[in-house]
Amino acid sequence: FHVDMDASETDKGPYPYYMLKEIDEQPNVMRKLAALYTQESGKPNIDTNLINALSEADRIYIVGAGTSYHAGLVGKKLFEKLAHVPTEVHIASEFAYDDPLLSEKPFFIFLSQSGETADSREVLVNVNANDYKSLTITNVENSTLFREATYTMLLHAGPEISVASTKAYTAQIAVEAILAKALGEAKEQTIAEDFDIRQQLGLVATGMQAIIDEKDMIEGLAKKYFVPAPRAFYIGRGIDQTVSLESALKLKEISYVQAEGFASGELKHGTIALIEEGTPVIGIITQRKTANLTRSNLQETMSRGASTFTIVRRELALDGDTIVIPDVDEMITPLLSVVPAQLIAYFTSLNKGLDVDRPRNLAKSVTVE
Ligand code: AGP
Repeated sequence: FHVDMDASETDKGPYPYYMLKEIDEQPNVMRKLAALYTQESGKPNIDTNLINALSEADRIYIVGAGTSYHAGLVGKKLFEKLAHVPTEVHIASEFAYDDPLLSEKPFFIFLSQSGETADSREVLVNVNANDYKSLTITNVENSTLFREATYTMLLHAGPEISVASTKAYTAQIAVEAILAKALGEAKEQTIAEDFDIRQQLGLVATGMQAIIDEKDMIEGLAKKYFVPAPRAFYIGRGIDQTVSLESALKLKEISYVQAEGFASGELKHGTIALIEEGTPVIGIITQRKTANLTRSNLQETMSRGASTFTIVRRELALDGDTIVIPDVDEMITPLLSVVPAQLIAYFTSLNKGLDVDRPRNLAKSVTVE
């Protein structure tokens, strides 16, 4: 793997905003994680003590906030599919004050770019008080969540300066995929043995670059449909629904468009009443078994006046699809389907004349509960 971070890590260089630089760095981060956490053979290169501890768990609890929570939703699919371990994902601020009915042998995974999120740390304090084992996956070495967990894995994404998280989200998912493969192999799951995550991350890096190279077309969509819109929807099913949540958060937090990520089959149970003439609705379609269902759900919104678009995996693409993303294993399509949404949010904010890197009301790391 050719790995280098040419633009120096903490200045914008030729970029107008850090967010665009950090979106552009994602292919290299994928290559770097593959090089660091997998071997030439494709086998994971992960601390065996961590894998042994994880192997003893009868249930995994993933805890995060905001974008990290969304990365955890993808992690659930990966751990359940590749390692067959039941996995729950919790919003940190909810879980900290819940009274959860835990399994006999729980294992806690904390996702946090900053490693300083107070909501997440509150949970870790409880976890440590009960002597449960934990792993923190973070971008900041020696951060609070890094120091206080049993095990740690670094994202190696380089400093993420922009308030809107991009490369940390995709790095979290890549690390979860490598971890789930390693756990699945420890449990002798054939699907894990057959899953060549090293090769897949190489495809992801190339695929991300191909999407980034289409940024002018994506800016055109943002200017025409999203800049004037008061509200917008991303819809999807299964793993695509988790990306619809992350896509909507990106748009909300930096362009102030009231966006919702929604399970596409659920719209007709009420929320479709919000669709008006010209409301942008983007369908995320990367899974064979639900592609046609989401297409018909999109159609339902179009018949009510929505301006509809698709972000679709090439194998499933039809004439008239808006953004076609390259094929990668269906388990890790979020690594690609999120990139157009990151760019839509970026260009909508930019063309609304907003401060992309420092949106109103927000801080990069939320250290209060
Ligand atoms: C993401 O774009 C947001 N800036 C925010 O939701 C963030 O993901 C959340 O505050 C969690 O931060 P962390 O990953 O540093 O814990």
